[in-house]
Amino acid sequence: MRLRKKPWMAKALAEYVGKEIITDGVEEHKGKWSSLFDGKPLALEIGCGKGKFINGMAQLYPKIGFVGIETQLDICYYPAYKVRENKLTNVKIIGGNAAYLTKWFAAGEVQMIYLNFSDPWPKARHSRRRLTYRDFLAQYKSILVPGGHLRFKTDNKDLFDFSVEEFKAFGLQIIALSYDLHNSEYENSIQTEYEEKFSAKGNKINFCEVVF
Ligand SMILES: C[S@@+](CC[C@H](N)C(=O)[O-])C[C@H]1O[C@@H](n2cnc3c(N)ncnc32)[C@H](O)[C@@H]1O
Repeated sequence: MRLRKKPWMAKALAEYVGKEIITDGVEEHKGKWSSLFDGKPLALEIGCGKGKFINGMAQLYPKIGFVGIETQLDICYYPAYKVRENKLTNVKIIGGNAAYLTKWFAAGEVQMIYLNFSDPWPKARHSRRRLTYRDFLAQYKSILVPGGHLRFKTDNKDLFDFSVEEFKAFGLQIIALSYDLHNSEYENSIQTEYEEKFSAKGNKINFCEVVF
């Protein structure tokens, strides 16, 4: 997702940084995230984009604390704006790169990870940047509780096939898999911005859930 530079953005962001958005001292919350949410269990969405999913999920599941991670700071404004509009107290957005996950979260601190329409990085030489590449899976394993789950959806079949192979190679148990989520038995309460856009064009949505 690329956004055109918006002249008003710096001022708008300043309203949210240090409140809904955390950019500095992320590691200071390591091992203590759930205290930001009155002890609620923690779920992450990595690459939350404009935040329709995380906001919808936080409304649907008020007993879970949701942390969105978005590497493009300008994009973080949108989920944060929605969090404030919706008066949600169970969401924070980290403005940063998920490559630092194990610096930011303690072992076993997270119950669930969501990856939605992750950047596909189609060139083979960029495969390490895919959020389902084995080095990322190793980080997820370290911060998830034993038996924690990861749910992944994407319309990109190549990325999906690559990811399923990575899950298998990493020894993860696949408990759900569909090449057409919207016509499957699986629950899909909240659609993301990309999901709405690409399913409206007729693209099938692939879905996989694995256990660590
Ligand atoms: C294709 S968009 C999808 C956004 C949203 N999940 C959706 O489904 O509408 C992928 C998002 O992931 C973010 N992203 C990519 N790599 C990331 C990383 N390593 N850490 C955090 N965010 C990342 C991008 O900046 C982008 O906003």
